[in-house]
Amino acid sequence: MRNTKKGYINNYMGYYLNMIIRIKDLTKYYGKTKALQNINLEIKENETFGILGPNGAGKTTLISILTTILKPTSGTIFIGNYEISKKPNEIRKNIGVIFQEPSLDLDLTAYDNLYFHSKLYKIKNFKREIKKFLHLVDLWDKRDTTVNKFSGGMKRRLEIARGLLHKPKILFLDEPTLGLDPQMRYKIWEYIKKLKYITIILTTHYMEEADKLCDRVAIINNGEIVVKDYTRKLKEVIKGDIIEIKTNNQKLIQILKKKGYIKNITEKNGIIQLTVKEGKLKIPKIIELANKNKIKIDSVNLHEPTLDDVFLHYVGKTINEKEMNYKEEIKFRMKR
Ligand SMILES: Nc1ncnc2c1ncn2[C@@H]1O[C@H](COP(=O)(O)OP(=O)(O)OP(=O)(O)O)[C@@H](O)[C@H]1O
Ligand SMILES: [Mg+2]
Repeated sequence: MRNTKKGYINNYMGYYLNMIIRIKDLTKYYGKTKALQNINLEIKENETFGILGPNGAGKTTLISILTTILKPTSGTIFIGNYEISKKPNEIRKNIGVIFQEPSLDLDLTAYDNLYFHSKLYKIKNFKREIKKFLHLVDLWDKRDTTVNKFSGGMKRRLEIARGLLHKPKILFLDEPTLGLDPQMRYKIWEYIKKLKYITIILTTHYMEEADKLCDRVAIINNGEIVVKDYTRKLKEVIKGDIIEIKTNNQKLIQILKKKGYIKNITEKNGIIQLTVKEGKLKIPKIIELANKNKIKIDSVNLHEPTLDDVFLHYVGKTINEKEMNYKEEIKFRMKR
């Protein structure tokens, strides 16, 4: 073993222990339902890590296990130097959690919600700290309002303040902006971006959210990690730009399939999606080709790869299609 200046410990396997979370072969069953299968994941200190997946993928289950609320069926998890099943109290002191389901006391004021949390965690200088974190989420002026008068976005902001009050080393956010309008979503993103000095693990099924906030992400589907990497690297896998062409004439696909510059082509609901290098230069060519063959194009749209495209690439369906399927499955299960 060798201690380097930065405090990283490089052991004989060439393995960096600045990984604040290490998950090995984690599996979780609820009765016969498999929620997580063989999860192996390491999370670096101070990174913002996204767990992306559709409804039922296993995101909340994973967060619940990491925050010691649920026990895994098998596998080991270290947070810092602690194996979490052995030192749950140590873990709880060092983490903050914002649950998917709101967990504020609605009959108390914003201030009192934080006050009780500060007592629970024996926070020193609690008055100063409460003020600081209420300011961080722009709720200081609303400190004396009871939470049942808050909007969904304000409740979320208060939960973020509460999650940070005891200065956790790791903050878990389970779907931080679920159900919020876009404006409030952007606002929450701004607060999360300010927290670069701690490790953040967030789950989401909004690909844009993951793209804006996360250094690295893992896509999880049916309880398994499909891929994990830096967001930039994942997008590079797509190797080109995406062109979407709206047309009713399916002949265009057959014509385009013969063109060597098209790397990938799919069609759904009258929209042809192509992956090409240098998309801007290919659009005039495609339009010329359509004109020559008397094919009417309704619209053309060009974009660089997004995490949505990455999800489609690895899972074979968009996240919305996966969620539709999940809702159908639940309905089917309920009918039986
Ligand atoms: N308490 C439970 N008992 C039985 N099955 C459960 C329980 N909680 C979750 N599951 C099942 O485990 C799987 C993963 O659920 P989980 O809540 O972890 O998914 P999720 O990715 O958080 O979904 P969502 O996006 O809807 O929040 C699903 O199939 C779900 O039905
Ligand atoms: Mg969930």
